[in-house]
Amino acid sequence: MARSDARFSIDFPRNIPCLRIINTLCLRIINTVKQLLSEAQLRAGVARLAAEIRRDYAGGSLTILGVLTGSLVVVADLIRELDMPMRLGVIQTRSYRGADTRPGQLEINCAMLPEIRGRDVLLVDDIFDTGRTLSALLVEMQKHDPNSIRSAVLLRKEGRQEVEMRPDYIGFTIPDAFVVGYGLDYQDAHRNLPYLAELEDEDLQAAAELAATARSGAAK
Ligand code: IMP
Ligand code: MG
Repeated sequence: MARSDARFSIDFPRNIPCLRIINTLCLRIINTVKQLLSEAQLRAGVARLAAEIRRDYAGGSLTILGVLTGSLVVVADLIRELDMPMRLGVIQTRSYRGADTRPGQLEINCAMLPEIRGRDVLLVDDIFDTGRTLSALLVEMQKHDPNSIRSAVLLRKEGRQEVEMRPDYIGFTIPDAFVVGYGLDYQDAHRNLPYLAELEDEDLQAAAELAATARSGAAK
């Protein structure tokens, strides 16, 4: 697969030596990431999702709930393809901890949830990995008495699911790899990459070393 161009600039203060090293390492990581889906492919995938959603909700109105933070980019693109009455809200979940790419304890924060009683709700998330997040969110949302509730994801990771449910709308099925970009992060980085990239083991290891260096630098 094609290696991506260097599209990143990370703005560390350059007069601090340890931060300069981190900056160099960051660029090394970003320069070597493997592109999995291009901007054009992502755009086409989102347009496909929107067409299916428009068809299923024709004549109705929709409350879209974006799952923070990973869905921000796909939600922003998706809603502009939906020429229909809609409201937009967000809900926050967190399941990854630090340098670990495995899911941890799931936290759901409903503080910003709009009123969804009697509404047709579409939950939108970035990726369906084990499926625990979306499955737990659907149970949580049912408590708020919506008229209907469905789910859409940009990505579904192949062979990872640990739950019975399947999202109603899926943009792409991808291999079992850790991916970043187009809203998805690794340790809060890379969300602004305009395409989807796969982080390989060496990238993950370099990123973990980077985080350790930054932590020890901060502690000094
Ligand atoms: P799940 O509960 O295992 O389905 O995980 C869902 C959440 O984990 C997603 O909303 C993402 O925030 C995060 N996640 C899972 N896989 C990846 C990945 O490959 N890259 C970045 N985030 C991921
Ligand atoms: Mg997420």
